[in-house]
Amino acid sequence: MTVMVLEVPVKALVYHGPGQKSWDNVPDPSPAQPTDIVVRVDTTTICGTDLHILKGDVPAVVDGRILGHEAVGTVTAVGSAVSSLGEGDRVLVPAITSCGRCSYCKRAMPSHCQATGGIGWIFGHLIDGTQAEYARVPFAETSVHRLPEGVTDEQVLFLADILPTGYEVGVRNGQVKPGDVVVVVGAGPVGLAAIQTASLAGAASIIALEPADTRREHALRFGADVAIDPADVNAEEQVMSLTGDGLGADVAIEAVGTPGTFDICTRVVRPGGVIANVGVHGAPTTLHLEDLWIRNVTITTGLVDGTTVPMLLQLVRSGKIAADLFGTHDFALHDMMAAYDTFAEAGKHNALKVVIRR
Ligand SMILES: NC(=O)c1ccc[n+]([C@@H]2O[C@H](COP(=O)([O-])OP(=O)(O)OC[C@H]3O[C@@H](n4cnc5c(N)ncnc54)[C@H](O)[C@@H]3O)[C@@H](O)[C@H]2O)c1
Ligand SMILES: [Zn+2]
Ligand SMILES: [Zn+2]
Repeated sequence: MTVMVLEVPVKALVYHGPGQKSWDNVPDPSPAQPTDIVVRVDTTTICGTDLHILKGDVPAVVDGRILGHEAVGTVTAVGSAVSSLGEGDRVLVPAITSCGRCSYCKRAMPSHCQATGGIGWIFGHLIDGTQAEYARVPFAETSVHRLPEGVTDEQVLFLADILPTGYEVGVRNGQVKPGDVVVVVGAGPVGLAAIQTASLAGAASIIALEPADTRREHALRFGADVAIDPADVNAEEQVMSLTGDGLGADVAIEAVGTPGTFDICTRVVRPGGVIANVGVHGAPTTLHLEDLWIRNVTITTGLVDGTTVPMLLQLVRSGKIAADLFGTHDFALHDMMAAYDTFAEAGKHNALKVVIRR
């Protein structure tokens, strides 16, 4: 007797060089290392970084790479060294992988995990990512987060990247304290995550600077007190007038990644204040140390670590962070190409993040 095994191909969004991507048949992944798991991807999304990759801005991403670094999934296979996760477990797969053992992971900086090639962001970058029906997840026990009952995929998906980014690299690096005036330049998903978590850190007022009308509206929905168009002739004067003594904001969070928006931060921050740069810069920025040194300004930079995900998950569970506000458009996994079309023209579609489900 011949047993027929129906081979259903696994589908994934594959990068084929600048400007080229397709929804391809790919090999079904299995654990390659004892510390790996495989997850069935239940919900994933697209990041602005994926659009940068597609423009050819991230040369480490090679032809044939499956993109994506955010997912909620169900464990379907575990490597021989994995004991605390099992088939059927529902997990958040975060953007940053942590071996848990190297010197950087031990000092809570898995963004520079030495076991993953010196950078914790490997999905859809150095290894195949999560915009697929199934994904292999290395160092699973020290990287993924098992999800409690009672939270939806849509509520936790954005803990994979944008929420910890806005919080860790914006609010925490910016040392936002109760009573602070915080300016957030750029109200894309990351800026909105900074706005949302700055409120929780006790900011007395949050001022968003954002040119897109619809995103200024989103900024107010996410907790900004005022949203100003930076193209207004007196935009920066408006910001200064909102800082009580007129001397500037305690914290300025840069969430765009351009020289001009970094410069705005240097002008609206008060003496003794902090500029927290979150934006990914593709071009050099002139740092006016000749002006900044005497104003005691602190500048911080960073790649997200994701070490605050458990804390942020608690805030999502308790309803303090309305993470589902980020998901503006829904797609099925096999409509990935359409999801990219919508996300790539986010302004036209008034999109923040797309929620892509199996
Ligand atoms: N540091 C990290 O670990 C990390 C992680 C993820 C993303 N990022 C970066 O954070 C930045 C924001 O990400 P995003 O997904 O929100 O991007 P996005 O492109 O969706 O949002 C950027 C926003 O900035 C606005 N903007 C453009 N010009 C402006 C100006 N002159 N003044 C004020 N606002 C302006 C745009 O209208 C848009 O709403 C990007 O550079 C991204 O690469 C950094
Ligand atoms: Zn990302
Ligand atoms: Zn490590």
